[in-house]
Amino acid sequence: QAEPIRVLITGAAGQIAYSLIYMVSSGEVFGKDQPIILHLLDIPPMTKVLEGVCMEINDCALPIVREVVATTNVAEAFKDISAAFLVGAMPRKQGMERKDLLSANVRIFKEQGQALDQHAKKDVKVLVVGNPANTNALICSKYAPSIPKENFSAMTRLDQNRGQSQIAVRCGVPITNVKNVIIWGNHSSTQYPDINHAEVITAGGDKKKVRDAVNDDAWLNDTFISTVQKRGAAVIAARGLSSAMSAAKAASDHMRDWWQGTDGRWVSMGVFSDGSYGTPAEVMYSFPVTCANKKWTIVQGLAIDDFSRQKLDSTGNELMEERGEAIAACEA
Ligand code: NAI
Repeated sequence: QAEPIRVLITGAAGQIAYSLIYMVSSGEVFGKDQPIILHLLDIPPMTKVLEGVCMEINDCALPIVREVVATTNVAEAFKDISAAFLVGAMPRKQGMERKDLLSANVRIFKEQGQALDQHAKKDVKVLVVGNPANTNALICSKYAPSIPKENFSAMTRLDQNRGQSQIAVRCGVPITNVKNVIIWGNHSSTQYPDINHAEVITAGGDKKKVRDAVNDDAWLNDTFISTVQKRGAAVIAARGLSSAMSAAKAASDHMRDWWQGTDGRWVSMGVFSDGSYGTPAEVMYSFPVTCANKKWTIVQGLAIDDFSRQKLDSTGNELMEERGEAIAACEA
């Protein structure tokens, strides 16, 4: 049987982790034959909650979980890990400006980048979920120079899943009938959910472009985009808490596809931009990618119309601004 791999989940006492730990431990992400040693990191005030989570992991009686290392020590958490879900981050408190939140969080990701550099395996795959996810991922990679930049990514899969689901519901088909919905740019309200290349197998069994199947440009260009962009806020308004089950599902989808490959399917991931599609280079920009052999490749050659161009540029500009603020906060 395969040697166990060490998998880190940070923010392990929080609400996303509460769902994610089970998904990872059930074998959905790394495979049912891949034993894992779970590393769980949170901050000292959460020690007791973390103990409770560990009790429940034991009580789940999970065949692939060989050991649980629950800790508040960063070095111990990052030691010899092959994969990391960086979920833990400081939540926005009342009266806090976006800028204050960004600077508090990028400092966490600077420290965790340094820990990756010193303690993790050099082929570690890092998925940043904690917000601002794209910029946190960039900072993490900047402070882990011994690890290739392509090993860092930011989560926009929840946005992709939300978009795909909106289209499936609108067309009255199962989610698996919809493919190639793209999320471009930042995981923020400037993200661009793009259906121009998406296809659907209709209820009648025909394969169609989503634009033709829906046949309602006003809905696609306006309602669809804003519903996806504002879905996080809608969940908070309804549930009184931010998306957690769906965020965990998206994180496990993202890592599974990266680890096990996509068989040609397109998925969206925030990755280190090489300037493809005229986007700013050296920011963590969400692109359509395919994955094989634990590597992602940006899907090339898609036509970008004027409507899309403007949206790709505006989310790119936001990422450049965030990068400037984040680097300044790290160097202060
Ligand atoms: P939560 O507040 O329930 O849990 C966060 C946990 O992280 C807490 O237990 C906290 O103590 C811990 N934490 C804080 N600082 C830490 C540090 N330095 N090291 C380790 N752990 C630390 O929050 P929730 O709902 O689990 O969300 C986590 C993050 O994910 C938030 O930043 C949220 O904005 C983000 N998020 C991102 C999404 C995406 O699509 N990229 C979707 C949904 C949430």
